[in-house]
Amino acid sequence: MVDIKVNLGDWELSNPIIPASGTFGYGKEFAQLYDINILGSFSFKGTTKEERFGNPTPRIAECPMGMINSVGLQNPGIDKVISEELPQMKKIFHKPVIANISGFSIDEYVYCCEKIDKEKQVGIIEVNVSCPNVHNGGMAFGTDPACAAQVTKAVKAVAKKPVYIKLSPNVTDIVSIAKACEAEGADGLSLINTMLGMRIDLKTKKPVIANKMGGFSGSAILPVALRMVYQVFEAVKIPIIGMGGVSSCEDVIEMMLAGASAVQIGAANLVNPYVCKEIIEQLPAVCEKYNIKNLKEITGGAH
Ligand code: SIN
Repeated sequence: MVDIKVNLGDWELSNPIIPASGTFGYGKEFAQLYDINILGSFSFKGTTKEERFGNPTPRIAECPMGMINSVGLQNPGIDKVISEELPQMKKIFHKPVIANISGFSIDEYVYCCEKIDKEKQVGIIEVNVSCPNVHNGGMAFGTDPACAAQVTKAVKAVAKKPVYIKLSPNVTDIVSIAKACEAEGADGLSLINTMLGMRIDLKTKKPVIANKMGGFSGSAILPVALRMVYQVFEAVKIPIIGMGGVSSCEDVIEMMLAGASAVQIGAANLVNPYVCKEIIEQLPAVCEKYNIKNLKEITGGAH
């Protein structure tokens, strides 16, 4: 019998599979397709202090082996997430969830963090300093080690729950940012968010996306994500949730060998809404094929 349980710090997950923020909403739509309690956990749509309508459309562009999104952190705001979404989520998902939060100032990160930290359903707070689709927020905090450190320090001062910082790949040296977050007390790291990209419409000769650019995700970015998880694993001691282009059991195993303790699946949910279910069901047999008896033991095995 293969053991596919994994740990994120003290939290034991029944398996490493976690749908990534922004690709699974608050779980409702997917709960109509399968029992989402089979998931290790899931990270719900990024929440900001105020309600956000998001960016103008078009905000999605298809690409070979992936897609570009420029959603712009559309969400109902932290108060509605707490008063409306979390109570509904509780009815369909009976495990701790990952709360993804974003901000346009350090005060906003702190505000959201302080509020969500009080919610019993939340297992981990994932602090997004890497959204490429908003100005003066998101990625602006995650591309400089000093800024990422400042956000980490501020949210750690108010959070009792573990804080994972979600890092951007749109940087020259992700390791220095990871280390800066660890030094300020981050309990873990999530990486990578999407890669800044664009497409141009040949008929209009203008960018496809109204915001011109957006975050590229999907299978094409897996090698970049693996490289970054591998590099960060060498440099920090805190757990890593690996993500970026994962869409199969083999990708999950590769991500864990690079250094991930658990794995998020993003764009693949939009191609096949059953992908997480299928991976969880197939994972024991695929582990067996590669002579893996205990999945958590392979984290960092490629080093
Ligand atoms: C978005 O809402 O624009 C995507 C969020 C992200 O990439 O962090």
